[in-house]
Amino acid sequence: MDCTIGTTNVKSKFLAVLAPNQQIQCNRRKKLGNLPNWARRRKASRMSFKPQSVYELLGGEEPLRLMVDAFYERVETDPILRPMYPADLVESKRRLFLFLAQFFGGPTRYSEERGHPRLRMRHFPFAIDQQARDHWLDHMGAAIDETSIEEPARSMMRDYFERSSAFLINRPDSIEIDDS
Ligand code: HEM
Repeated sequence: MDCTIGTTNVKSKFLAVLAPNQQIQCNRRKKLGNLPNWARRRKASRMSFKPQSVYELLGGEEPLRLMVDAFYERVETDPILRPMYPADLVESKRRLFLFLAQFFGGPTRYSEERGHPRLRMRHFPFAIDQQARDHWLDHMGAAIDETSIEEPARSMMRDYFERSSAFLINRPDSIEIDDS
Protein backbone atom coordinates (compact mmCIF):
# COMPACT_ATOMS: atom_id res chain seq x y z
CA MET A 1 0.00 0.00 0.00
CA ASP A 2 1.28 3.55 -0.83
CA CYS A 3 -0.24 6.08 1.51
CA THR A 4 -0.03 9.82 2.01
CA ILE A 5 -0.94 11.99 4.93
CA GLY A 6 -1.23 15.45 3.41
CA THR A 7 1.96 15.64 1.33
CA THR A 8 3.91 13.10 3.40
CA ASN A 9 4.37 9.55 2.04
CA VAL A 10 4.00 6.67 4.48
CA LYS A 11 4.68 2.99 3.81
CA SER A 12 1.49 1.60 5.31
CA LYS A 13 -1.70 2.84 6.85
CA PHE A 14 -1.04 0.48 9.74
CA LEU A 15 2.16 2.35 10.64
CA ALA A 16 0.64 5.81 10.38
CA VAL A 17 -0.13 7.84 13.48
CA LEU A 18 -2.79 10.37 12.61
CA ALA A 19 -3.51 13.69 14.29
CA PRO A 20 -7.27 14.17 14.86
CA ASN A 21 -7.60 16.53 11.85
CA GLN A 22 -5.51 14.41 9.46
CA GLN A 23 -6.74 12.03 6.77
CA ILE A 24 -4.82 9.20 5.18
CA GLN A 25 -5.15 8.19 1.52
CA CYS A 26 -3.87 4.88 0.21
CA ASN A 27 -3.46 3.29 -3.24
CA ARG A 28 -2.83 -0.35 -3.89
CA ARG A 29 0.63 -0.98 -5.33
CA LYS A 30 0.93 -3.01 -8.50
CA LYS A 31 1.23 -6.85 -8.38
CA LEU A 32 4.50 -7.57 -6.57
CA GLY A 33 5.03 -4.14 -5.02
CA ASN A 34 3.21 -4.75 -1.76
CA LEU A 35 4.88 -8.05 -0.94
CA PRO A 36 7.88 -8.56 1.33
CA ASN A 37 11.11 -9.39 -0.51
CA TRP A 38 11.02 -13.14 0.17
CA ALA A 39 7.44 -13.41 -1.14
CA ARG A 40 8.27 -11.26 -4.15
CA ARG A 41 11.11 -13.61 -5.09
CA ARG A 42 8.91 -16.69 -4.68
CA LYS A 43 6.09 -15.16 -6.73
CA ALA A 44 8.46 -13.95 -9.44
CA SER A 45 10.02 -17.40 -9.72
CA ARG A 46 6.54 -18.97 -9.99
CA MET A 47 5.56 -16.48 -12.66
CA SER A 48 8.56 -17.50 -14.77
CA PHE A 49 8.11 -21.24 -14.03
CA LYS A 50 9.15 -23.34 -17.03
CA PRO A 51 7.24 -26.60 -17.24
CA GLN A 52 9.38 -29.73 -17.60
CA SER A 53 9.25 -31.46 -20.96
CA VAL A 54 8.03 -35.06 -21.22
CA TYR A 55 11.61 -36.01 -22.12
CA GLU A 56 12.86 -34.49 -18.86
CA LEU A 57 10.04 -36.09 -16.88
CA LEU A 58 11.03 -39.48 -18.32
CA GLY A 59 14.62 -38.86 -17.29
CA GLY A 60 16.01 -39.31 -20.82
CA GLU A 61 15.63 -41.55 -23.86
CA GLU A 62 15.61 -45.05 -22.37
CA PRO A 63 11.87 -45.24 -21.48
CA LEU A 64 11.02 -43.95 -24.97
CA ARG A 65 13.21 -46.58 -26.60
CA LEU A 66 11.54 -49.33 -24.56
CA MET A 67 8.09 -47.95 -25.38
CA VAL A 68 8.82 -47.88 -29.12
CA ASP A 69 10.10 -51.48 -28.94
CA ALA A 70 6.95 -52.58 -27.08
CA PHE A 71 4.80 -50.77 -29.66
CA TYR A 72 6.47 -52.48 -32.63
CA GLU A 73 6.25 -55.87 -30.96
CA ARG A 74 2.49 -55.43 -31.12
CA VAL A 75 2.57 -54.11 -34.69
CA GLU A 76 4.43 -57.31 -35.69
CA THR A 77 1.27 -59.38 -35.15
CA ASP A 78 -1.41 -56.85 -36.10
CA PRO A 79 -3.31 -57.99 -39.21
CA ILE A 80 -4.30 -54.44 -40.26
CA LEU A 81 -1.08 -52.56 -39.50
CA ARG A 82 1.65 -55.09 -40.25
CA PRO A 83 1.15 -55.09 -44.04
CA MET A 84 1.64 -51.30 -44.15
CA TYR A 85 5.15 -51.48 -42.69
CA PRO A 86 8.32 -52.73 -44.42
CA ALA A 87 9.46 -56.33 -43.82
CA ASP A 88 12.33 -55.16 -41.65
CA LEU A 89 11.13 -52.87 -38.86
CA VAL A 90 14.55 -51.68 -37.67
CA GLU A 91 14.48 -48.36 -39.55
CA SER A 92 10.80 -47.75 -38.77
CA LYS A 93 11.57 -48.16 -35.07
CA ARG A 94 14.51 -45.81 -35.29
CA ARG A 95 12.54 -43.09 -37.07
CA LEU A 96 9.62 -43.23 -34.64
CA PHE A 97 12.00 -43.18 -31.68
CA LEU A 98 13.97 -40.17 -33.02
CA PHE A 99 10.76 -38.32 -33.83
CA LEU A 100 9.24 -38.87 -30.38
CA ALA A 101 12.46 -37.96 -28.57
CA GLN A 102 12.50 -34.68 -30.49
CA PHE A 103 8.79 -33.97 -30.18
CA PHE A 104 8.82 -34.53 -26.42
CA GLY A 105 11.69 -32.10 -25.88
CA GLY A 106 14.84 -34.19 -26.38
CA PRO A 107 17.60 -33.99 -29.03
CA THR A 108 16.60 -32.81 -32.51
CA ARG A 109 18.22 -35.69 -34.42
CA TYR A 110 15.01 -36.57 -36.27
CA SER A 111 14.91 -33.22 -38.10
CA GLU A 112 18.65 -33.25 -38.69
CA GLU A 113 18.27 -36.58 -40.51
CA ARG A 114 14.79 -36.36 -42.02
CA GLY A 115 13.99 -32.64 -42.28
CA HIS A 116 10.53 -31.33 -41.37
CA PRO A 117 8.37 -34.20 -40.02
CA ARG A 118 5.38 -33.49 -42.35
CA LEU A 119 3.57 -36.40 -40.76
CA ARG A 120 0.35 -36.09 -42.73
CA MET A 121 2.22 -36.08 -46.00
CA ARG A 122 4.48 -38.97 -44.99
CA HIS A 123 1.46 -41.06 -43.94
CA PHE A 124 -0.59 -40.38 -47.03
CA PRO A 125 0.64 -43.45 -48.94
CA PHE A 126 -0.85 -45.65 -46.17
CA ALA A 127 -4.62 -46.16 -45.99
CA ILE A 128 -5.32 -44.97 -42.45
CA ASP A 129 -9.01 -45.22 -41.61
CA GLN A 130 -10.66 -45.17 -38.19
CA GLN A 131 -9.95 -48.87 -37.64
CA ALA A 132 -6.23 -48.58 -38.45
CA ARG A 133 -6.00 -45.54 -36.19
CA ASP A 134 -7.74 -47.39 -33.34
CA HIS A 135 -5.31 -50.32 -33.64
CA TRP A 136 -2.33 -47.95 -33.68
CA LEU A 137 -3.59 -46.06 -30.62
CA ASP A 138 -4.41 -49.26 -28.69
CA HIS A 139 -0.90 -50.58 -29.26
CA MET A 140 0.69 -47.30 -28.24
CA GLY A 141 -1.49 -47.14 -25.10
CA ALA A 142 -0.46 -50.68 -24.19
CA ALA A 143 3.20 -49.87 -24.87
CA ILE A 144 3.00 -46.88 -22.49
CA ASP A 145 1.52 -49.14 -19.80
CA GLU A 146 4.04 -51.94 -20.34
CA THR A 147 6.89 -49.46 -20.01
CA SER A 148 5.42 -48.24 -16.69
CA ILE A 149 5.57 -44.60 -17.73
CA GLU A 150 4.30 -42.59 -14.79
CA GLU A 151 2.12 -39.54 -14.42
CA PRO A 152 2.17 -36.75 -15.47
CA ALA A 153 4.18 -37.91 -18.52
CA ARG A 154 1.72 -40.77 -19.10
CA SER A 155 -1.33 -38.51 -19.56
CA MET A 156 0.62 -35.98 -21.61
CA MET A 157 1.76 -38.72 -23.99
CA ARG A 158 -1.62 -40.43 -24.23
CA ASP A 159 -3.27 -37.11 -24.94
CA TYR A 160 -0.78 -36.32 -27.69
CA PHE A 161 -1.14 -39.77 -29.31
CA GLU A 162 -4.91 -39.55 -29.25
CA ARG A 163 -4.91 -36.24 -31.09
CA SER A 164 -2.07 -36.92 -33.51
CA SER A 165 -3.38 -40.34 -34.55
CA ALA A 166 -6.84 -38.86 -35.26
CA PHE A 167 -5.17 -36.14 -37.33
CA LEU A 168 -3.47 -38.79 -39.48
CA ILE A 169 -6.70 -40.50 -40.59
CA ASN A 170 -6.61 -40.01 -44.36
CA ARG A 171 -9.27 -42.40 -45.70
CA PRO A 172 -13.01 -42.67 -44.97
CA ASP A 173 -14.17 -45.81 -43.19
CA SER A 174 -14.51 -48.77 -45.53
CA ILE A 175 -18.16 -49.32 -46.45
CA GLU A 176 -19.52 -52.84 -46.26
CA ILE A 177 -21.79 -53.42 -49.26
CA ASP A 178 -24.74 -55.69 -48.63
CA ASP A 179 -25.85 -56.88 -52.08
CA SER A 180 -28.20 -59.62 -50.92
C1 HEM B 1 -2.86 -43.39 -37.05
C2 HEM B 1 -2.27 -44.56 -37.25
C3 HEM B 1 -0.87 -44.67 -37.84
C4 HEM B 1 -0.48 -45.57 -38.76
C5 HEM B 1 -1.34 -46.66 -39.38
C6 HEM B 1 0.92 -45.32 -39.05
C7 HEM B 1 1.68 -46.02 -39.95
C8 HEM B 1 2.95 -45.69 -40.35
C9 HEM B 1 3.70 -46.35 -41.37
C10 HEM B 1 3.19 -47.53 -42.19
C11 HEM B 1 4.89 -45.76 -41.47
C12 HEM B 1 6.04 -46.12 -42.44
C13 HEM B 1 7.01 -46.97 -41.72
C14 HEM B 1 8.41 -46.51 -41.87
O1 HEM B 1 8.85 -45.68 -41.08
O2 HEM B 1 9.07 -46.99 -42.76
C15 HEM B 1 4.91 -44.70 -40.49
C16 HEM B 1 5.98 -43.86 -40.28
C17 HEM B 1 6.03 -42.95 -39.29
N1 HEM B 1 5.05 -42.67 -38.35
FE1 HEM B 1 3.22 -43.45 -38.33
N2 HEM B 1 1.35 -44.27 -38.28
C18 HEM B 1 0.29 -43.84 -37.53
C19 HEM B 1 0.31 -42.83 -36.60
C20 HEM B 1 1.44 -42.15 -36.25
C21 HEM B 1 1.48 -41.14 -35.21
C22 HEM B 1 0.30 -40.76 -34.33
C23 HEM B 1 2.76 -40.67 -35.18
C24 HEM B 1 3.37 -39.64 -34.29
C25 HEM B 1 2.92 -39.35 -33.11
C26 HEM B 1 3.51 -41.36 -36.19
C27 HEM B 1 4.84 -41.15 -36.46
C28 HEM B 1 5.52 -41.72 -37.51
C29 HEM B 1 6.85 -41.35 -37.89
C30 HEM B 1 7.74 -40.32 -37.21
C31 HEM B 1 7.18 -42.11 -39.01
C32 HEM B 1 8.48 -42.06 -39.81
C33 HEM B 1 8.36 -40.89 -40.79
C34 HEM B 1 9.61 -40.75 -41.66
O3 HEM B 1 10.53 -40.03 -41.25
O4 HEM B 1 9.64 -41.34 -42.74
N3 HEM B 1 2.70 -42.26 -36.82
N4 HEM B 1 3.72 -44.68 -39.82
